[in-house]
Amino acid sequence: MSVARALTIAGSDSGGGAGIQADLKTFQMLDVFGMSAITAITVQNTLGVHGIHHIPIDIIVGQIEAVVTDLGVDAVKTGMLAQVPVIEVAAHQLQKHRLTQVVVDPVMVAKGGARLLDVDAENALIKHLLPLAAVVTPNIPEAEVLIKSPISGLEDMKEACRKIHSFGPRAVIVKGGHLAGAAIDVLFDGTDFIELPSKRIDTRHTHGTGCTFSAAITACLAKGDTLSAAVFTAKSFITAAITDVLELGQGHGPTNHWAYAKNAKQGKH
Ligand SMILES: Nc1ncnc2c1ncn2[C@@H]1O[C@H](COP(=O)(O)OP(=O)(O)OP(=O)(O)O)[C@@H](O)[C@H]1O
Ligand SMILES: [Mg+2]
Repeated sequence: MSVARALTIAGSDSGGGAGIQADLKTFQMLDVFGMSAITAITVQNTLGVHGIHHIPIDIIVGQIEAVVTDLGVDAVKTGMLAQVPVIEVAAHQLQKHRLTQVVVDPVMVAKGGARLLDVDAENALIKHLLPLAAVVTPNIPEAEVLIKSPISGLEDMKEACRKIHSFGPRAVIVKGGHLAGAAIDVLFDGTDFIELPSKRIDTRHTHGTGCTFSAAITACLAKGDTLSAAVFTAKSFITAAITDVLELGQGHGPTNHWAYAKNAKQGKH
């Protein structure tokens, strides 16, 4: 039996809703064998991040080398890289091992608005990582940081796609989770725009939506799907995961990684 394999290079969320935990759950639910290179360990629950321990660079590189050279990797995603040296070694590893199915989730701004990267790290991400990406998946605040101007609607999102595409990724998807109204994401491959609409679900349980969405794209690319097919599946996966609320924790709870498969069993896809 041959199985598709995906690697996530990201931080650990002890609360299980975001970071590598969300990525691995998503890979598993989409029938992809998941592996991880942990960049940082966060002390986290649905109420917030209470502590962080950065993993030494040689251990991060070691994790990537270990899995790529032994088990093999069909697609990879990057999440929270946090510091300039981590961004640099991740980019180096992607090039060294000729990994081209790369999903870059440019984790820079948390759901609550907190900046997660300093300016040097933001610049390193643009310079070293974006040119290696098959697709980059900023949320609205991250897209605003990347293009240095505000985004308030669909036309602004399209303009942001164009500008971010000029930094070198093969495609860009600007996610609409942070705007009011319908949750519309916009995909741009350098030629065409595709709009991915879903109705906005009124819930506070959206912790890890971005991680889950980009992990689902990665899983589908690992299986050989085209980018547009991967993004459509990922949108269905995250919409199901937000809709079918688990009601865990006292704060912003995790999404439901079982929901998409549950819907499939009931013939809803
Ligand atoms: N309330 C909602 N209802 C429906 N879809 C949503 C909602 N919130 C987010 N989404 C969808 O979830 C996906 C992730 O987008 P979002 O903008 O939340 O990412 P993010 O801010 O990077 O998330 P995170 O805070 O986990 O990093 C997108 O497909 C977006 O449209
Ligand atoms: Mg995000």
